[in-house]
Amino acid sequence: MRDILVTGATGFLGRHVLEALPSVLPETRAHALVRRRADWNRQKWTGALQHVEVIEGGVTGSEGWTGDRRLQNVTGIVHLAATVQHSRRNTAEMYDTNVDGTLRLVRLAAQLKCRMVFVSSSGTVGCFEDPLAKADEDSPYVERTVARWPYYDSKIKAERQARALAAQLGVQLVIVRPPMLLGPGDHRFRSTGNIIKFLRGQLPFLIDGGVSFIDIRDAAPAILRALDHPAARPVYHLDGTDCTVVEFFELCRQVSGVAAPAKVLPYDLAWQLATASETAGHVLKRKSPLPDPVVFEMARHYWGLTSLHSQRELGYVSRQPRQTLADTVAWLRANHPQLRK
Ligand SMILES: NC(=O)c1ccc[n+]([C@@H]2O[C@H](COP(=O)([O-])OP(=O)(O)OC[C@H]3O[C@@H](n4cnc5c(N)ncnc54)[C@H](OP(=O)(O)O)[C@@H]3O)[C@@H](O)[C@H]2O)c1
Repeated sequence: MRDILVTGATGFLGRHVLEALPSVLPETRAHALVRRRADWNRQKWTGALQHVEVIEGGVTGSEGWTGDRRLQNVTGIVHLAATVQHSRRNTAEMYDTNVDGTLRLVRLAAQLKCRMVFVSSSGTVGCFEDPLAKADEDSPYVERTVARWPYYDSKIKAERQARALAAQLGVQLVIVRPPMLLGPGDHRFRSTGNIIKFLRGQLPFLIDGGVSFIDIRDAAPAILRALDHPAARPVYHLDGTDCTVVEFFELCRQVSGVAAPAKVLPYDLAWQLATASETAGHVLKRKSPLPDPVVFEMARHYWGLTSLHSQRELGYVSRQPRQTLADTVAWLRANHPQLRK
């Protein structure tokens, strides 16, 4: 029996990685890093995971879990833990988790003398003003484009610093960059948040811009294979469907039967409305009914990835986008408290 460590185990991707584990890497036990064991136990889907043991701890702070004796035989780390927050307010915890937390895991990989697969984001390289632009694994960071979007900025900092530390400590670091992950099983209702709003009729308008997404059921096995490939590369992209915001919600309409918002607002107007609403919400300590201005700034851009090696080396194939959206919608309708019939 081989042992691996998976951080972010309670999340959307953590769930899919743990569920895919027996078929992708048989005879493997996962040690799931979980901040609160009670949160883990409360989730119905965790009960079926026979090959998983929980280790309680976080990736920040100075808790002693890294010295847990059960980690001694770990031969690979899948680092998924992160805070995903698209706002410029209160970002200290996000940087702490996403950057310092990743460095902590690189140090642990050095201590355990094992490979680490770190899931970053397509947004570190694949975000453009040009609808046709694409980034491959050798493309430069889009630092200037994302400088005012703390989540992507934190992922670039995490990648850079983790790469430098891994080189210094002799750790094999494999960075995997997916775009937005969709599919069934988003029990936290975060990644699928825009589809939930759409299904509930809570998207008042759209803006011109782009969306890029893949199916989480295709991503999870590829991430696990990155742990095992004998000559894994430093970076793999998981490319999928790049489309406009309007095309995305048209596809959502086709698979759900729910009408897409008819209005497409000019970006400047949408941004001003979101900014005014966010400022008022902050002053009145109420949640803005509109997404954060950062979300509009991001949505105005186009997101494009290509992959040079993930199909051949990680067996990664992206399924039909219509299938992903249909299964996402069906799962949300069966599981989201406000969408269940
Ligand atoms: N979902 C996407 O569309 C997408 C796209 C590209 C890249 N990614 C990346 O993929 C990874 C997984 O994303 P996801 O969608 O699964 O996110 P998620 O559902 O929000 O889950 C985040 C996970 O990180 C854990 N976490 C957060 N802060 C932590 C800390 N300080 N210590 C330990 N664990 C902590 C959470 O644990 P708790 O339960 O304790 O909060 C949770 O398990 C992230 O690195 C994300 O940046 C996601």
